[in-house]
Amino acid sequence: MSKTTQTPSSSLPESWVRGTEFLGTQHAILGGAMSWLSEHRLVSAISEAGGFGVIASGNMPPELFRKEIQSTREMTDKPFGVNLISINPALSELVDVLLEEKVTHCVLAGGLPDPKTISQLKDAGVNVILFAPSLALAKRLVKRGADALIIEGSEAGGHVGPVSTSVLIQEILHHINDVPVFAAGGIANGRMVSGLVQMGAAGCQLGTRFVCAEECIAHENFKKAFIRAQSRDAVVTSQFDPTFPVIPVRALANKGTLQFNELQLKLIHQVKNEGMDRKEAFLELEKFWVGSLKKAAIDGDVDYGSVMAGQSVGMVKSIQSVKEIIQELVADI
Ligand SMILES: Cc1cc2nc3c(=O)[nH]c(=O)nc-3n(C[C@H](O)[C@H](O)[C@H](O)COP(=O)(O)O)c2cc1C
Repeated sequence: MSKTTQTPSSSLPESWVRGTEFLGTQHAILGGAMSWLSEHRLVSAISEAGGFGVIASGNMPPELFRKEIQSTREMTDKPFGVNLISINPALSELVDVLLEEKVTHCVLAGGLPDPKTISQLKDAGVNVILFAPSLALAKRLVKRGADALIIEGSEAGGHVGPVSTSVLIQEILHHINDVPVFAAGGIANGRMVSGLVQMGAAGCQLGTRFVCAEECIAHENFKKAFIRAQSRDAVVTSQFDPTFPVIPVRALANKGTLQFNELQLKLIHQVKNEGMDRKEAFLELEKFWVGSLKKAAIDGDVDYGSVMAGQSVGMVKSIQSVKEIIQELVADI
């Protein structure tokens, strides 16, 4: 049976139903975790509206992470998940909190997750969702125990891979049947969601579209910058040295982008000439992003902070409630 065959009991595409069953939701729409923004208010609003909210742990201390999980539960009894960053030095403490709080789904982002963390989560019955950047890795991640995959194209906001959503769809989606595969990156409206589901996606993950939700705590300057921006304004950062492969970040170009470039050049110099540890240099870059995203998203400095946004920012035109956004996204299913 093809992934998109309609089941007799429902007029919904089979792949979508598979996504909703995996997430335990009415709609197979994930609110992609966004550091600083995907906290209890936005996450619970997405889940209450029938989607699947995901808490961004970012660099939260473990006790704040626990509080966010508990506050989300106070606002909704619907399913939600958490997002952990694999390279976070506090990963194992965050995993402990997640297990103690009995969270059902975990999205592991930020590089290849180590098999030990995957096993620890799976042994406790947590559904593990992983990002697949290529077909070979997608197959390896399924073998390692991924319960679902996300394929995220370079159109997305935040840290991105080099390949577009349309190519990942053809390269990966059509060749993985063992687990549900969700599509992300550059998705902004119901026709796109419907088209991707018709092609076999189990659902879609969106970040950029949810930034201007009423329930999102982003500073009003950050939301205004989104509403003003065109798709072409959301650009990826450059890598200056092939021996220092920084993960590109897509954000609205501003003075903060220039500061990132300066920091990158300084760290390359320190690693090459002053014996700085490479891992330490990469962690410093990550700290830069976490700090500068806060500067823009929470403090409202959209000139010097990082205004992480995907190319779909050009289609974000107003402040809307999460409920309205989700209704638009599922209108064509
Ligand atoms: C402001 C912002 C912050 C983000 N932070 C994270 C993060 O902390 N962890 C993560 O896995 N993805 C992060 N993302 C990516 C989103 O979870 C989501 O996958 C992406 O936004 C989907 O593509 P779209 O922006 O085209 O909708 C972020 C995206 C944005 C726009």
